[in-house]
Amino acid sequence: MAREEIINKLIDEAIKILNNSYAPYSNIHVAAIVYTDKGNIYKGVNVENSSYGLTICAERSAISAMVTAGERTPQIIVIVTDYSEPIPPCGACRQVIAEFNPKAMIVMYSIKSRKKIVTSLDKLFPQPFKLSL
Ligand code: THU
Repeated sequence: MAREEIINKLIDEAIKILNNSYAPYSNIHVAAIVYTDKGNIYKGVNVENSSYGLTICAERSAISAMVTAGERTPQIIVIVTDYSEPIPPCGACRQVIAEFNPKAMIVMYSIKSRKKIVTSLDKLFPQPFKLSL
């Protein structure tokens, strides 16, 4: 399958779960799909909390699902939102994605503007924190 076709399929998968996002405080709904080196997908949405700082972003939910399933290598992370513009992963999520693949492809899409941005984690986050063990 061509890269563009895979990306569009992943965006469709994210749109399907966007309504599951729990975002009563910001009203910004976010869904993330992780596509791994094995060709599997893992899903996540943002989960807010009345203690605002406890909010979990969609990307970290999806990465947790990937690790829970025993996988370790995200190749593409798709982030879909109903916000007016595509949203990039926050700093915390960049660090969490970088733990597993600092060069992952990042795709952002807004269902409102229908704008799509394709970039890579090493462009957004060139110097992740990593201790050499
Ligand atoms: N959010 C994500 O899910 N991913 C990001 O990378 C940026 C922000 C969520 C957190 C919160 O529920 C809402 O978007 C507004 O910040």
